[in-house]
Amino acid sequence: MNSSSPKRLPAVAVLCSGSGTNLQAIINAARRGRLRARVAVVVSDQPKAFALTRAARAGIPAIVVRRGDFPSRDAFDRRLLEILTPYRVRLVCLAGFMRVLSPIMVHRYPRRILNIHPALLPAFPGAHAVRDALAWGAKVTGVTVHVVDEEVDHGPIVLQEAVAIRPGEKEAALLKRVHRVEHRLYPHAITLMLSGRARVQGRRVSVKRAS
Ligand code: GAR
Repeated sequence: MNSSSPKRLPAVAVLCSGSGTNLQAIINAARRGRLRARVAVVVSDQPKAFALTRAARAGIPAIVVRRGDFPSRDAFDRRLLEILTPYRVRLVCLAGFMRVLSPIMVHRYPRRILNIHPALLPAFPGAHAVRDALAWGAKVTGVTVHVVDEEVDHGPIVLQEAVAIRPGEKEAALLKRVHRVEHRLYPHAITLMLSGRARVQGRRVSVKRAS
C-alpha cells in the first residue's frame, strides 16, 4: 500500500442529525483530493436523517444512535465512544449534529472535535442561527468552524467567513448562501487541523500559510 492509498489517509468521523449537505461536501472534497482524509464512519442520532443515505451511497458505515435509547447524556456519549474508538479517528466533525456533547466525549478527543455553525459566533448561537440573525435585523452573518469544548457554540474558532444579508432576504435564500460557504469552509478547516497548520493555543487558533 503506498502513502496515498485511502487506508493511509487520516480517518475522520462525521456526526449528523439531518440532511447532511456538509457531510456530502466533506465526502466530495475527499474524493476530489482537496481534503486528504477519509470519512471512516458517519453517526446520526436521527434514524431518518438523509445523511445516512449519503453515507451509504458513498460506501461509508452509517450508524444510528438514538438518544431516547439511553437514560442519560453520559450513557449516550459512552455509546458514541464505543462506536468511534475502533475507527481510530483523528477528528470528529459535527455537521448539523443537534446534540450537546458531554465532557466524556470532549475529554476523549481534546481539541479534536470540530463543529460548524451558521453564524459568526459568538453571535447567534443555538439551533436557529440563520432565522435568529434575520429576526435581529443583522446586516451581516456568516459561518464559523470551531473546536468543541465543554460549552455550547463556544470553543476556539478555526475559521470564520462573513455573509452579507441582502435587504428583504428570506430565510430560505439566506440559508442557501450560508450553506454554500459552509460547504467550502468545513473541508478547508478539517485540512488545516489534520495537517497541523492550525494550532490551538487557549482560545486562539493560529493558522500557518501553506508553504
Ligand atoms: C448546517 O447549516 C450547520 O451549520 C447547522 O446545521 C446545518 C446542517 O445542515 N448546525 C447548527 O446549527 C449547529 N448549531 P446539513 O445537515 O445539510 O449539513
